[in-house]
This record gives sequence, C-alpha cells and structure tokens, in this order.
Amino acid sequence: MITETDETSAIEAHINSVIEKYRQYVNPGLTRLLQFGGFGDLEVFAEGCVVTLASGTQCLDFLGGYGVFSLGHRNPAVVDAVKRQLDRMPLSTRAYFHEPQALLSERLAQVTPGELSYSFYSNSGAESVEAALKFARKATGRTKFVSTEGAYHGKTMGSLAVTGREKYRKPFGPMVPGTTFVPFNSADAVAAVLDGDTAAVILETVQGEGGIVPAVPGYLADVRRITREAGVLLIVDEVQTGLGRTGRLFGCEHDDVQPDIMTLAKALGGGVMPIGATVFTQEVCDAVFGENPYIHTSTFGGNQLACAAGLAALQVTVDDELSARSVRSGARLMAGLRSAVSHAPGVLKEVRGLGLMVGVEFAVQDVAELTINGMARRGVIAGYTLNNPKVIRFEPPLIVSDSQLDQAVNAFGESVNEAVSLLQDIE
Ligand SMILES: Cc1ncc(COP(=O)(O)O)c(C=O)c1O
Repeated sequence: MITETDETSAIEAHINSVIEKYRQYVNPGLTRLLQFGGFGDLEVFAEGCVVTLASGTQCLDFLGGYGVFSLGHRNPAVVDAVKRQLDRMPLSTRAYFHEPQALLSERLAQVTPGELSYSFYSNSGAESVEAALKFARKATGRTKFVSTEGAYHGKTMGSLAVTGREKYRKPFGPMVPGTTFVPFNSADAVAAVLDGDTAAVILETVQGEGGIVPAVPGYLADVRRITREAGVLLIVDEVQTGLGRTGRLFGCEHDDVQPDIMTLAKALGGGVMPIGATVFTQEVCDAVFGENPYIHTSTFGGNQLACAAGLAALQVTVDDELSARSVRSGARLMAGLRSAVSHAPGVLKEVRGLGLMVGVEFAVQDVAELTINGMARRGVIAGYTLNNPKVIRFEPPLIVSDSQLDQAVNAFGESVNEAVSLLQDIE
C-alpha cells in the first residue's frame, strides 16, 4: 500500500533531483539564490493568475513574468489561435508570405501611436532593441545614443550598451561605443548632451528594472520636442510597459508622444509565445530597408505561431478593455499596499507605479528580500528589480480579480511585519 507519506517523499525527491540538475547543468549560483529566496519548487501548471507547483502549492503570480502574463497564463483565445496555427504551419519557410505576420503588422500599425507603420519581428525584448539601435544608426547616418541611468534595455551587446547599470556592462567591456547616460526624468539633461552625431535617444516610459520609476508628466513630451528639433530619433522601449500594463495600451500615450521607433516583446506573445517587435515609421523603413530588404533579419522572427499569438493577444487586450482594468486594479493594489504597512512608519519609502506596474521601495534592502521570501511562503510571487534591490515589484496579470489583489496585499502586510520583527531580533 502506498501511503501519503511515501507519495510526499517521492514528490520531494523528484523536486530535488530536478533542482540538482539545475545546479549541475544550468547555473549553480542561480540555483542557490532561488532556493535561498524560497523558490525551491517546480512550476508544473498554470492558469489565469494561479501557478501550481510540484509540491501541490498554488501561488498567485504577482510577478507575471515581468510583464509577460498580462492576459494571465494560458489565455484560452491565445492558446486556441496558437493550436490552430500549430496544426497548419508553425514556422516559416522564409521563402513565401504568410497571413499571421501580415495581419499582426496591420494591427500594430493601427494601434501604435502616430506614424509608426512597419514592423520587424524578432524573438525577445533585447533583439527588438538591437534592431531599433541599428535602424536609428542607418536612418540618421549618425552613431551615438543617449540613454538614462537605471535604464534596462536587455543584455545582448547592443542593448547592454544602452542599459544604465555599470554592474552588468563592465564585465563585458568594451561596449559598443557612443552611449551617454543622463538622469531619468530630466529633459534638460537630454538636451545638454545631444549633438550632431546623436542618432537616437532611447527611453522606457516607466523604468522597470530601475525600480519602477514612472516618467513624470511632460518628460516624454519634452524629450520628443527636443529630439525632433535636433533631428534625433526617439526610441521608446515598451517591452515591459506595452499592451495595457500602465493603464494605456502604450506607456508613451500618457504623454501623447509619437516615437520614431517603438520596441515591444513580453506581453505581445499573449503569455504563450516569445516574440519581439520593432515598429517604425515610413522614413525609417525607407532608410533602413530601401536598398537591401535583407539588411537586418531573424530566422525565427515573425513566425506564424508567434504572430498568431500576437494577433490574438492584441484582440483580447483591446476587446476586454484591459488598459482600463489596469488603472482600476493598480489603484486598489497601491492603496492596499500603503495601508498594509501604515502602522510601521519608516519601513516603507514609497509605493509607486502606473496601472499594474507597481513598485514598493523599502528603506532597507534586507526588508525587501525577506518580504519577497515571506510572500513566496504565503503563496504569492513577487519580484526584485535588477537595478534597485530595495524595490520589490508587482506586475500581476491585468485580469487579476479584486479578491486576488486583496489576498496579495494581506500576504504583503504579514511578510513585512515578519521581516521587521526578524531584523529587530537580530539587532
Ligand atoms: C524595457 C525592457 N527592454 C528590454 C528588455 C529585454 O527583454 P528580454 O529579456 O526579452 O531580452 C526588458 C526585459 O526585462 C525590458 O524590461
């Protein structure tokens, strides 16, 4: 007879053997870090906002793959579109045209602001930034970029060169030359460094990895005016903010800004497929692809499966009015987080965000780490921000319910209290 205890130890043994393979064959440091952080389990099933672990624990996904799962996990419309495409033709020969790419590109041209009308596809956020940087150089004949301190644009050579944290750049130097970093949220700082060699300014509309720092109203519009006057392109990186996350379909719409190039990834795949997109104007298209349509390519970019997912994801986002839902739920979440720790003054520095891109800045880094750990033990996944370890972030699916928001807020309050008393005991 197999007892419950036998079954539990068999599951534990399975979990440990998989984690051991990560230690031996993937990344020992990461394995240690995840185990230490309270994430020593396997994710085996997911639906909506809930992830089921091998141990049987169910977690609320308030990290949302850093913006990937805006529609939740396995959104039925996206899964259905991908399954139908899978049964017909998943990947392209690259010799012919195919309908999913044509339809997605048409839709992106319709929903993106201003004159953005052509799409180049890749498979990730960093690749969409790589394309944007190359296009800006080719379109302007200039070589330099302006980026911001704390910015995150990816970790490939080009995207890393415009990522605003020395810690990630230095070990891989020398970088692609020509990037100047200026403080985020200062248009004057941008104006001061533009010159006749500047190809583009690249900006997030909310710095994600930088610690969930929204652009102040007017900043993006000012940078747009300054860049236009200087003949410099504006690249808006919406990889994390795109598709309703901040309460508008695109973050730059908060300031009514029309970039020359926009980058998208994460949520565009509907939480089912990887996809990156670089969307640009006619002028950029002519300059980049006019002479040679093969000047920049990607074997898998724009494949049928990814484009079918993208098209379905856009449809659901617009039809279900997820941007508006993000505004409402974001307000409820931020109010809840603030009140959950209102009795412990000095612990929290700030709760900030836009829509459902929310960051909590603690006065002390240890409280941030222990809170993430405590929330994991209470069945809520929250995340770090790479460039600001005092900030924890919440990016739940935009479909999150009020009761799930309240559950996460309770777990947060309890975890902060626990962290504070633990640190007091140590002192
Ligand atoms: C704003 C922004 N740009 C680019 C990237 C890089 O995307 P990926 O990790 O898909 O390469 C990220 C990833 O977090 C991001 O947040």
